[in-house]
Amino acid sequence: MSTLTNQAIAGFDAGFDVEKIREDFPVLKQNIHGKPLVYLDSAATAQKPFAVVDAIRRFHEVDCANIHRGVHELSQRSTASYEETRSKVKRFVNSRFTNELIFVRGTTEGINLVSSSWGRKNVKAGDEIVISAMEHHSNIVPWQMLCEETGAKLRVIPMNRSGELLMEEYQKLLNPRTRMVAVTHVSNALGTINPVREIIQMAHQAGALALIDGAQAAPHMKVDVHALDADFYAFSGHKVIGPTGIGILYGKAALLNAMPPYQGGGDMIKVVTFEKTTYADLPYKFEAGTPNIAGGIGFGAALDYVNKLGIDRIAAYEHSLLAYGTAALTAIPGLRLIGTAQKKASVLSFVMEGIHPHDIGTLLDRQGIAVRTGHHCAQPVMDFFNVPATTRASLAFYNTFGEIDALVAGLYKVKEVFA
Ligand SMILES: Cc1ncc(COP(=O)(O)O)c(C=O)c1O
Repeated sequence: MSTLTNQAIAGFDAGFDVEKIREDFPVLKQNIHGKPLVYLDSAATAQKPFAVVDAIRRFHEVDCANIHRGVHELSQRSTASYEETRSKVKRFVNSRFTNELIFVRGTTEGINLVSSSWGRKNVKAGDEIVISAMEHHSNIVPWQMLCEETGAKLRVIPMNRSGELLMEEYQKLLNPRTRMVAVTHVSNALGTINPVREIIQMAHQAGALALIDGAQAAPHMKVDVHALDADFYAFSGHKVIGPTGIGILYGKAALLNAMPPYQGGGDMIKVVTFEKTTYADLPYKFEAGTPNIAGGIGFGAALDYVNKLGIDRIAAYEHSLLAYGTAALTAIPGLRLIGTAQKKASVLSFVMEGIHPHDIGTLLDRQGIAVRTGHHCAQPVMDFFNVPATTRASLAFYNTFGEIDALVAGLYKVKEVFA
């Protein structure tokens, strides 16, 4: 069923052989509660191919050493592999220089780095930070903390009932006090793809900077930080089939150079005396301590894998999966999609009349189907739609049309239980 449907619907790209791709993902080969696993929680974290698992193992088995510090062979090898990932990220996001790419733990740390380092230096009482109504907590709380500390004000771009930002309202929020506009590229709770190029341009016209949370965009579409003219762009490796604990903060070199370090420690200094310390050049100024070396190397293998498939082909395939899933779910009586923007990526968030999302999630799990239920770290979005939680099926390029059929069949079973 799944292969046939895949070919019928994704016929525009017969070379995108999802069954073959699935062979590369060991996790997908198991049964859960006696049923084949249907993994629909990639927005939380994506599964990892053998190539990533093998790169991490190889590092520990063959090359294991600390980086940037040793003249010995193992350290040289580890440093080269780790730094090669930075070059791969440079090509992946089209930044102009590798030193504009800071390794961080993930999107959360990337945003916190900017709000702490840039924020404390540049934001004062009376200034304004603009975020949007659909932000993940990691792009709300750090800015709130900065506002509390400095006396700045947090302003929020509202959205409509489809989950699209109201751009005229955004325009009205911008003023000479606006220092930063921090907005998500793709909403994890709704799937909305925001017009970030326009958002950035408008921020710049108002004299503000723009940070883009790319956690849900980088896995699903071509990101070009240079074309976007983003001042900062953060994303997590683990959502792009890489390991956890590694991510990227891109920042324009001039801005990063003018910012104080985020953390102090080894590797981020030039000279330390008890009287004074001078800091290392970019990117190391922001990379204190031993980093996640294995994670960085695994992340490089993940980007190689994505590049081999081609991010544009991934986007096209996922788009057809999303269209198929949207039509299939909408046809289920009593089901309401939360997030119906014109432009969406890979997220099907929904509620079902009279059935709590946690019950839906639990009953789907009994059928081997993994979805996410809850507020998805976006409580203001739940408040806006007046729901306590949603069920979220999120897609990746290793999902099949057959798996969406399985989700639909699973949801009919859930309805039977609650009939
Ligand atoms: C839109 C968005 N921003 C930020 C994050 C935080 O990412 P991480 O937990 O990898 O730092 C997530 C994770 O789900 C997300 O979906």
